[in-house]
Amino acid sequence: MGNLRDNPGALLCVVGARPNYMKMAPLLRAFRSRADLPPAVLVHTGQHYDPMLNDRLFEDLALPRPDINLGVGSGTHAVQTAEVMRRFEPVMDEHQPSCVVVVGDVNSTLACSLVAVKKGVPVAHVEAGLRSFDRAMPEEINRILTDQISDLLYTTERSAHDNLAREGIPTGRMHFAGNVMIDSLLYHRSRAVPAARTLQAAGAGFGGAGYGVVTLHRPSNVDEPEALRASLEILCEVAQRLPLVCALHPRTVARVDGFGLSELLKGARLAVLPPQGYLEMLGLMAEATLVLTDSGGIQEETTALSVPCLTLRENTERPITVTCGTNRVVGTRPADIVDGYRAALAGGGPRRIPELWDGRTSERIRDILQKALFG
Ligand code: UD1
Repeated sequence: MGNLRDNPGALLCVVGARPNYMKMAPLLRAFRSRADLPPAVLVHTGQHYDPMLNDRLFEDLALPRPDINLGVGSGTHAVQTAEVMRRFEPVMDEHQPSCVVVVGDVNSTLACSLVAVKKGVPVAHVEAGLRSFDRAMPEEINRILTDQISDLLYTTERSAHDNLAREGIPTGRMHFAGNVMIDSLLYHRSRAVPAARTLQAAGAGFGGAGYGVVTLHRPSNVDEPEALRASLEILCEVAQRLPLVCALHPRTVARVDGFGLSELLKGARLAVLPPQGYLEMLGLMAEATLVLTDSGGIQEETTALSVPCLTLRENTERPITVTCGTNRVVGTRPADIVDGYRAALAGGGPRRIPELWDGRTSERIRDILQKALFG
C-alpha cells in the first residue's frame, strides 16, 4: 500500500448523510484517541443539510464539527455524485491523505472513494459487503462499486464475506470487525430520551398501551403515488391495532403533500413527527412494541435493542438481523404485513445479539487500519 510510513498524511473521514453520522462518530473517537496515528480530518459532503437531519444528530452524537464542508446539497444522483467528486478532489490535493475512510452506502460514500482510488490513495470502507441483490436500489450500486475499489473492507456480518468473495475481492482485504452503528447505540443508550417525553412534546399521548414506531423514506415506497398511498393505507390499518408514531424524512413529507395524501396521515392513533434527534429516536425505539421501517440501520438498531422490527421491503442487505435478530422482512402487501405484525407480537424463539456487535468495533477497525497502513 505504498510508502506511507515515511510520510503519513491525514486520515480523511467522510460523511454525507444522516446514516453516516452514527457510524463515523465512534470511528473518529477511536482514531483521535491515538497519538501515533495521523490526524483524522472530518469531511462533510453536505448531502444532508436540514437541521433535523444534520446539525441535531451531530450534537446528539457529540460528533465534532466537520473540518471541511463541501456543501453539495440535493440533486439527481448524477449531479450529486459528480458534485461531491468535483469538490472533494481539491481537498485530496491539499491534504495528501494516507487513507480515505468511508462508511455505508450513500452517494457520498461512492463519490469520495472514486476520487481517492484514482489518486492512488487507499480507501477503507466500513460496512462493506452488504448486498440486497436489488440493483434498483441506488445504495446497492454504491455498495458494489465502493467495495470493488476499496483496500480495507470492514464487515458487520459474516455473510458479507461470501458476497465479497463472489465478486472477486481477495480475502486478505476483508476484515470482520462488527458494527460501528451499535458502538454508537451502546455508547448513548443511557442518555436516550424517554419515549413518554418525546410523545408528549409531539402531542401524541397514546395512553400508555404501547405504540409502534414508523420510518419510511425509500424511493420504492414513497416516490410513486400508488406505492405511497398503499404504504400509508397499511399504516392506517396497523394503527387500528397499535397506535403509531411516524418520524418522517423530509422527502416523504414532500411526497405526501405533493401527491395530496395528507388526509391518510390524520387520525388520533397516528402521530406524525419530524425527523427525530438520535437520542429521541433511541428512546422511542427502545420502548416501542414494534418498529415498522424501510431503513437499513433501524433493522440493526432494533436487533441490538431486542425490539421486534417489520421491514417494509422485499429484501434486506442485513440478513443477520433476520437469522439472529428481531427483524422480519414482510414486503409491502397488506396481508403479509398484518401476518408479520401478528407473528412479531407473538414473539417466537430466543433472539441473540449478532457476533461482535459489542460496542468495540471502532477500536478493532482502528487497530487493523494502523497495522495495514503504518505497520
Ligand atoms: C439518503 C441515502 C439513503 C439513506 C438516507 C437517510 C443515497 C443514495 N441515499 O437518501 O441511503 O437511507 O439518505 O436519510 O445516498 N432532503 C431534504 N433535506 C436534506 C437532505 C435531503 O429535504 O437535508 C430532501 C431533498 O428533497 C432531496 C431528498 O430529500 O432531494 C433526497 O435526498 P438525498 O440525499 O438524495 O437522498 P435521501 O432520500 O436522503
